[in-house]
Amino acid sequence: MSVIVVQGYYPLKGEIEIQGSKNAALPMMAAALLHKGATVLDHVPMIQDVFCMMGILESMGCVCCLKDHRLTIDASQVSKAQIPKDRGKAMRSSIVVLGALLGRCREGKAYYPGGCSIGSRPIDLHLGALRKMGAEIREEGEVISARAPRLSGTDIRLSYPSVGATENVILAAVKAKGDTVLRGAAKEPEIDALCRMLVSMGAKIQGIGTSSLWIRGVEELRDISYEVPGDRIVTGTYLSAVMAAGGEAVLRRGSPQCLGRVLDTMRTMGAHIRLWEDAVEIAMDRRPKAVSVTTGPYPDFPTDLQSMAMAVMAVGEGEGYLKETVFEGRFATAKQLHKMGAEIIIEGSEARIVGKGSLKGAKVRACDLRSGAALAVAGLRAEGKTMITDCCHIFRGYEDICGDLRNLGGRIRRES
Ligand code: UD1
Repeated sequence: MSVIVVQGYYPLKGEIEIQGSKNAALPMMAAALLHKGATVLDHVPMIQDVFCMMGILESMGCVCCLKDHRLTIDASQVSKAQIPKDRGKAMRSSIVVLGALLGRCREGKAYYPGGCSIGSRPIDLHLGALRKMGAEIREEGEVISARAPRLSGTDIRLSYPSVGATENVILAAVKAKGDTVLRGAAKEPEIDALCRMLVSMGAKIQGIGTSSLWIRGVEELRDISYEVPGDRIVTGTYLSAVMAAGGEAVLRRGSPQCLGRVLDTMRTMGAHIRLWEDAVEIAMDRRPKAVSVTTGPYPDFPTDLQSMAMAVMAVGEGEGYLKETVFEGRFATAKQLHKMGAEIIIEGSEARIVGKGSLKGAKVRACDLRSGAALAVAGLRAEGKTMITDCCHIFRGYEDICGDLRNLGGRIRRES
């Protein structure tokens, strides 16, 4: 069992390259299943969730090879349309494989997915949409069995712009019969990336980047090589780290243009931010100012950066507010930050944070992927040592958070 140890009070300075996006890479890997041939993905992050998705694809008969961030998936043979139980339950994104299986095999078996414990995370929108496309879906205990001998395009409207449900519909529609019109689709940049990759494979998709997608089913796709975009959430995490610790940094290849509202919020908090073509530069020469942040679907402030905003405000000055509208259980970071001396009052889906200027090192627990990363951010501005346990959650999404922050001058390391 490894822990992360952070020694606080060292300002950050330097330049690093950001890993590929987890939330883009996972559905892109599922998309490879649709093609009876080889798909090459570059800039793939070497993280636990990617290894888990490789395991899922391999269990179905795909041949996967990941070397130096280049992943080749040969899906010429798919012998088993079933997501294995252990891997399916280990990772929320496993559910998007179901749409791809229906597209490729016209049947599929999945398990209610696991992942971060940040809320109830139902999949009713996924299953409702797939049923509308002609899938017969049986739910028995934790098993979901789907069959769709006549998978067909249809009109679908999502009552909430769910990222996963949008991806599932896209993956099923690309090889369904006829046209699918999806309204109320999520507009996250990772969905754009998935659509663009599919178009380069030969899929017919219009409306990319909007909430109305039109997809015409095709019979065949082709071999491609495609680059996974940089991870905007990792970029946001390291920008938050500079805001908490003070200093300056240049982050390259991290899709900063997809951070939109996040950069405005950071500027209001006192960060000097400049955008370059594929880099973002930040300088922070004061304690972060408190702000009010409400999370929401893209382009609103991402829920995945809510705990970083909490950590930054906890070491800032003034009284700030956070309202979480996406996942009900996403304030777990607060309890851990309390151990470090933070003053955070939670009432339902709202948090009030009274900035303390700095925190005190303590032993804390990574409750989920993003809250774990937020604790590392807080530790950079805590007196003494912060020890983060259960950091396996962090490695699900961050390739080398300790190495990255060390390259920026942070005192942070992984210990067994
Ligand atoms: C994805 C991201 C996750 C991010 C989230 C919101 C991946 C691998 N994960 O998760 O990092 O935090 O988007 O930006 O890309 N909902 C339903 N019924 C459904 C589906 C969703 O009620 O069938 C609800 C959820 O409970 C939640 C909200 O919709 O309250 C958003 O969920 P969704 O957009 O589906 O998130 P994920 O795809 O799970």
